[in-house]
Parts: sequence; structure tokens; C-alpha cells
Amino acid sequence: MKDKVILVTGAHGGLGTYVTQAFLDAGATVIGTSRKIQQSDFSSPGFTALPAEISSREGAKVLVDQIVARFGKLDVLAHTVGGFAGGPSIADTGDDVFQRMLDLNLNCVFHILRATIPALRQTGNGRIIAIGSRQAVEPAAGVGAYSASKAAMVSLIRTAALENKDAGLTANVILPGTMDTPANRKSIANADFSKWVQPATVANLIIWLAGDAGKDINGAVIPVYGSDV
Ligand SMILES: NC(=O)c1ccc[n+]([C@@H]2O[C@H](COP(=O)([O-])OP(=O)(O)OC[C@H]3O[C@@H](n4cnc5c(N)ncnc54)[C@H](OP(=O)(O)O)[C@@H]3O)[C@@H](O)[C@H]2O)c1
Repeated sequence: MKDKVILVTGAHGGLGTYVTQAFLDAGATVIGTSRKIQQSDFSSPGFTALPAEISSREGAKVLVDQIVARFGKLDVLAHTVGGFAGGPSIADTGDDVFQRMLDLNLNCVFHILRATIPALRQTGNGRIIAIGSRQAVEPAAGVGAYSASKAAMVSLIRTAALENKDAGLTANVILPGTMDTPANRKSIANADFSKWVQPATVANLIIWLAGDAGKDINGAVIPVYGSDV
């Protein structure tokens, strides 16, 4: 990963922390973004924090313009921004919840893809790796807004794969099951954590897809469900 410039969105989230650290450990230059990211979140000299709100066209564009101006290129987008809402049936889901799921899980992907694709195409072997969810393909009762937003983002990533293979740019999406993050341990305290997906497993898969070995994997929708299947 030496000489590679990587953008990790959601870089200090439950998964993003592992992804950012894994790229730093691999020797990459890593730009970590989120609304509240700080330079002190990672101690490696390869890390740069660039706070951004990527649910708008302008926020995503300003971020990517800054990266290209400062680092000269962008090789990899690792997109982990997303969020969950569940409980009510479709009949009882409020407009606010549905809109929040679309903003977080779909609109952020659209805006960051549109902003990054021109730079990623320039490198000749760019990579897009996005995080969906198991529920994008296996919806469950009570999570309609979340499932629909993740299903739509999977579609967008597959389209990006088709539209950019001419430039050697690949786009793949990983669908984790429940991950062993601090937030999940807090909110589902009585679960068997050993059955959950380890964030490090997903981070390692992202690193592999971003490397030379991943160049022929394009448009893949990759389940990572742990042992809780
Ligand atoms: N956790 C699970 O069990 C699980 C299972 C399946 C799939 N997933 C998916 O995996 C991904 C990572 O999950 P996670 O648990 O690591 O989530 P997380 O801890 O909530 O991290 C997501 C990060 O995204 C950032 N963010 C949110 N909105 C943003 C915006 N508009 N602009 C820029 N940054 C924004 C947040 O940081 P700021 O507040 O600083 O902006 C947050 O730290 C998500 O896509 C999630 O849907 C998670």
C-alpha cells in the first residue's frame, strides 16, 4: 500500500477505525473523514484528518478537491459511512426515519461516488469498496427503511463497477452481518459476541480488495456473516 492515497469515510466509526488503522499499518497515506474526525484520532504520520459532511454534493466535492490538491491523486475509496434504524413496520415508519436512512446509506454513497470517480479513474487501477449490510439482500421485518436504503446502495455500486471498468477502476460492496463494535456491545448487551463479525475481518478484506490481487474482482456483492447465520 506504499504510495497509495486512500480515503476512508466514517474513519473513526466502529468499523472505520479498524479500516483506517489497517491501511496505515500497510504503509498507505490515509485521509480519514467524518463530521467529527480529529487529527488526534490516529497517531500514525501517514494519517490526515479532513472533517466533512458527505450527505451533500458540495460537502463531498470540497473534500475530494482538497485531497487531490494536497496529495496529487486518489487511489482508493473505502466508504464505511452508514447507519441503522429499526423497530417500526413500514406502516408505522415516520418520514424522518425513512429520509435519515436514505441520506446516510444512499445519498452519502451517491455524493461520494460522484465526487471521487473522476480522480479514481485517473490512476488506471482505482478501487471503490463500500459497506452495505446483510439486510440489503435479506430484509427482515421492522427494518424496511434501512434494508431499502442499503439495497439501493448495492445497486449504485454495481452500476459504478460497470461504468468504470474501462479505466481499470473496480467497485465492490461488502455486506456484513452484525459486527462486534463497542456500540453493538452496548445496545445488545446479552448477545453472544463471539458469533458476530469481527471488524478486523472486514478491514482485512477491504485491504485485499484494494491491493493488486483484487484487480479482477469487480461488481462483487460479498457477504460476511460470521457464525450467526
Ligand atoms: N455495526 C454493524 O453491526 C453493522 C452491520 C452491517 C452493516 N454495517 C454498516 O457498516 C458501516 C459501518 O458501521 P459502524 O457500526 O462502524 O457505524 P458507525 O460506528 O456509526 O460509524 C459510521 C461513521 O460515519 C460517520 N458519518 C455519519 N454520517 C456522516 C456524514 N453525513 N458525513 C460524514 N461522516 C458521517 C460518523 O462519524 P461522525 O459522527 O464523526 O460524522 C460515524 O463515525 C455502516 O455503513 C453500517 O450501516 C454495520
